[in-house]
Formats: sequence, C-alpha cells, structure tokens
Amino acid sequence: MEQKIKNMQHSPSVGLLPIDLERIRADFPILDQIIDGNQLVYLDNAATTQKPRVVINAIIEYYRKYNANIHRGLHYLAEKSTEMYEHTRIHVADFIGGVDPKEVIFTRGTTEAINLVAYTWGEENIKEGDEIVITEMEHHANLVPWIQLAKKKKAILKRIPITFCGHLDQSNINEIITSKTKLLALTHMSNVLGTINPVAELTALAKKHGAVVLADGAQAVPHLKVDVKSLGVDFYAFSSHKMLGPTGVGILYGKKELLEAMPPFNMGGEMIREVSFDHVTWAELPNKFEGGTPNIADVVAFDAALHYLEEIGMDNLRQHEMDLTKYAIEHLSAIPGLEIQGPREVEQRGGVISFTDNDLHPHDISTFLDSKGIAIRAGHHCAQPLMSILGKIATARASLYIYNNEADIDALVKALKGMRRYFGL
Ligand code: ALA
Repeated sequence: MEQKIKNMQHSPSVGLLPIDLERIRADFPILDQIIDGNQLVYLDNAATTQKPRVVINAIIEYYRKYNANIHRGLHYLAEKSTEMYEHTRIHVADFIGGVDPKEVIFTRGTTEAINLVAYTWGEENIKEGDEIVITEMEHHANLVPWIQLAKKKKAILKRIPITFCGHLDQSNINEIITSKTKLLALTHMSNVLGTINPVAELTALAKKHGAVVLADGAQAVPHLKVDVKSLGVDFYAFSSHKMLGPTGVGILYGKKELLEAMPPFNMGGEMIREVSFDHVTWAELPNKFEGGTPNIADVVAFDAALHYLEEIGMDNLRQHEMDLTKYAIEHLSAIPGLEIQGPREVEQRGGVISFTDNDLHPHDISTFLDSKGIAIRAGHHCAQPLMSILGKIATARASLYIYNNEADIDALVKALKGMRRYFGL
C-alpha cells in the first residue's frame, strides 16, 4: 500500500539547500496567473497557502482511482481508501515529532479542533472559580470558545498581556499562571504580529501548577519544525490548508490519556463500539472523535503536502522565510508613514507582517494593492481584542511562504510607494 501511495504522488521538483525558488514556484500553477494585466503576487499565506501540483493531483487521483467510504466497506476500494486515510494519520504523527497516531484526530480545521476540546474536555473539567489563561494575541478561534465556556461555568478568564514590541509580557506571569489555572490556551505563533511564543517555557510553568495546555499551532506548524512532545503540551491544533494541503482538514493532537477520558464530540456513525436503544459505548481512539464520513480525499491529499514540505526540509523553509522576512521588514520600514507591528528580530517571529499607514485605511491599502495584482489581507484578522490593544481598527497584513521571493517583496514595496504618490502623500 505504501508503494501505491508513493506511486500516486509525483515527486516534487525541489532540491535540498540551497532552495531552488524558481523550481518551487513552478510547482504552483496558480502563481502563473495574470490578474487584470498584473502578474499575481500572493502574500496572503497566513489566511491560506497555495497548493503545489502534487497536492492537486493527489485529489484528482484519489477520486479517479480510490474513492470509497472508509472504515466500513469490505471491498477493494473501501480498503484502499481506508489505508490511504490512515497513512496520512501516521504521517502527521511523525511530522509533529513522532506521537502515537491514535493521538491524531482529524477535524475540519483548527477552529473545530479547539472547539472539540472546549466542548468535551472543557465541559467536563472546568468548574466554577477555575481559571483559564489565554494571551492577548489570540485568534478568535482560541478565544471565543474559552470566553463562552468561562461564562457558562462561571470560571475566570485571565490573560497574559503583550509588550509594546509584541512579545508576551511575562513580568507578572507568576500571578497569572497559578494553582488556580485549569487551562492555558495560547497561540504558538501570532497570526497578526508574527510573534513566536515560548510555548515550552509557559507549558512547563502551567504544568507545575497541574494545568492542561492547549496550543494553537495554525501559524506555527506550516513554518517551524514542531515537536509537540518537546513542547510538553496536552493539545495542539493546526490546519492542512495553511501548509500547502487542502482546506477542510484540521488536526487535533491530544495526549492519549486525556483523549481517552474525554466524551465524544460528534455523535453518529463510526464513533461507537456498540449501540442499543438505551445504551451506547464509544469506539477506541481516534475513531471516537471522528463520527460521520470524514473529508477523506483532502486528508489523503494532505499526505502529498507533508511529503512536499519534507523534501524542502522545514529548516530550509524556516531559513528562507527568516531571510525574506528580514528583507521585507527592512524595505517596508523605509516607506514613510508605514508602521510595522510585532517583533523586529526575525529569530523571534514568522513571516506575518502586519502594517498600517498613518494616512490610509488598511482596506484601501489592500484594494490598491489588489489593483496591482498583489494579494494581502486587511482587517482585524479575527483578533479584535488584540486590535484594540494595538489601538487599531485594522491592519494590512502581508504573509509569506516558501514560494515567495524578493521580487514579491519588491513589487509590494513599489506598489506601496506608488500608492502614497497616488493619494498625494
Ligand atoms: N486565521 C487566518 C488568518 O489569520 C484565516 O488569516
């Protein structure tokens, strides 16, 4: 089977160090596009990444040759598709540091993975007066479930503030994380500031007090080598679509003993062991959390994305993004009126670069850039509380990935300078 899976994936045309950017870019058909007469410059990778041909082909191949429901049928296709789906689970387990594949649950995305924990572990374990600690830089996906849970349970939501430079402010950390802390829920990398948070360090502190730790890795796993065991977290959530894979696939890693003790989230087919009219017992992990027909084709194709990233090498990818982020920050900082958010040191941040212009609304910046073929995101980035701390309604955000190059940054900088001239600034 392993061989079959390998055969259906076309080897990505990438080399090891030094990264051959031209060859990588050639693997992404969408990047060739001309939009309104402009070459597409895609800088909205924190929202979603583009897909290499191997991933697109894996989806097509799956539907052409292997499509069947999994874990049910006894026929050839059902067995093949089950093996392929489960193969991705083994691959994911290996990719995040060699965990037990039973600790890898497929969901629809990071949001659903976090909600799964809130509605199961949270419902059962958070009690009146307990404290849930989050940070001020959380995406709504790692914030709203905890706000609602705290309200429902009369628990207390505490937050780790941020410094002026966009780091977590740990000066009062021993007053925030205490023996009352039941859960620490924090982002590994901010989707607005790019800040890489000291997850291992804060997890160690939370563990000293017996708390459970959940990290939102949606912006981290695509860009850093992540080993969930060395981070020490109990739960870790991320999404396929931000790392070259298809949309509609999320991953929840959870420690086996916690997952085993948790009730299921979606009730229905394939998550049960036995059902009578008055009694139900649950399936073993991971099936207990995957009720209903899952997103089989996209999980299967996610395997091709993981192979692609492994061929590049996560260390090579990180180095490339640090070099490009440095280049981008240097050149963007030189534009008058532009203010960049988040840490400056590339070792402490990823390639998510949020900025504002003293004179222009971020939506106008985005619209202007779009007219030049440049795709960025503008808005509150699903982090409204962070925006209010920054004193902004919104920011413009350029976010990088492996296929971006200096020419993309040059195009952005040129367009931003042109924009200021256009508006007479
Ligand atoms: N969470 C994604 C972003 O930051 C959608 O854009």
